[in-house]
Amino acid sequence: MTHLMNTYNRQPVAFIKGKGCTLTDTEGKTYLDALAGIAVNTLGHAHPALMAALNQQAGRLLHVSNIYRIPQQEALADTLTRLSGLSEAFICNSGLEANEAAIKLARFYGHQQKDVELPSIIVMEHAFHGRSLATLSATANKKAQAGFEPLVPGFIRVPYGDIAAVRQIAADNPNVVAVMLEVIQGEGGIHTVSDEYLRGLRSLCDTHGWLLLLDEVQCGMGRTGKWFAYQHAAIQPDVVTLAKGLGSGVPIGACLAGGRTAGLFGPGNHGSTFGGNPLACVAALTTIEVMEAHDLLSHATRIGDLLRRELSKALADTAGVVEIRGKGLMIGIELDRPCGALVKAALEAGLLINVTHESVIRLLPPLIFSEAEAHELTEKLIPLIQNFLKD
Ligand SMILES: Cc1ncc(COP(=O)(O)O)c(C=O)c1O
Repeated sequence: MTHLMNTYNRQPVAFIKGKGCTLTDTEGKTYLDALAGIAVNTLGHAHPALMAALNQQAGRLLHVSNIYRIPQQEALADTLTRLSGLSEAFICNSGLEANEAAIKLARFYGHQQKDVELPSIIVMEHAFHGRSLATLSATANKKAQAGFEPLVPGFIRVPYGDIAAVRQIAADNPNVVAVMLEVIQGEGGIHTVSDEYLRGLRSLCDTHGWLLLLDEVQCGMGRTGKWFAYQHAAIQPDVVTLAKGLGSGVPIGACLAGGRTAGLFGPGNHGSTFGGNPLACVAALTTIEVMEAHDLLSHATRIGDLLRRELSKALADTAGVVEIRGKGLMIGIELDRPCGALVKAALEAGLLINVTHESVIRLLPPLIFSEAEAHELTEKLIPLIQNFLKD
């Protein structure tokens, strides 16, 4: 009997410690972590450099208000703008908060710069942007929205990857101020779009004076083998949101802005009590330092390619496997049927995976996942999938 609000379908397991890409439960059983807290534990568990930096910071200063200067937050803004090519950062605590800031920024931009009365944002089918009222309204999942109406107005939905649909909105709707999308959809089933589509969106945004808002909460921070997934298409967005992997397990999010949105917000326009406190910023700075020192971007590309190759070799001709897709260490294996049962089977086999969109097995291992761990993952997962599809 638990007094927790019943908001999650939890697996019947509790972990007490972790090291690298291995977690240990209360019974002493170990698990290979191919999920990383859903794209959170960039450096795996108990990474020595991160532990040392957090211990040191915790011993000095955990929190001060944003009414004072916070050098660690300024350093993080410097780093994130250097990596992204944007020019300023708002630091918060989570993905939905980062997206909430982006949505507010877009509306503010519409009122201030475009003189639009009812600013609207084009969003995508299968999108997931969070569970606050605004981000839930931007999200496409009808089940998640049900019962929370009225939703926040000002979102226009189009099919993901369909440039003609966006062009049509441009012709029909003078209230549009921005396009918001995940470069790779995570919760929606690891869907990717082409570089041409992203470049097409950039160009439409330029033509119409819209902002390009990219939600990289799940696909950003090196997961796809570049700091940000949009860098594969060599485009520059106006706003980028981050969270999940940014602090390697310490809650932190960021809304990065530049281009047309640079300098838009002033004091009083947005804020957060906890956002960007010294501890969280040290977590993010250290995560990035370790990623740079060990070239985890190339590593993510190499191990991701290896995993996709092994999975494709073993499963490509298996009846019931629809597609193996993704980039870097963001991998989806779509089956032709709901496969939530595989999560439990994997757990029993000592492997942590996830299923999203009912029929897509999702792999999001820590970026430190080794070649040996990649082999262990495929050796465990492939027979589970083959057995499951036999039934
Ligand atoms: C793309 C994307 N955006 C936003 C969010 C929301 O992040 P959070 O749960 O930190 O609010 C998620 C969470 O899964 C996500 O995948």
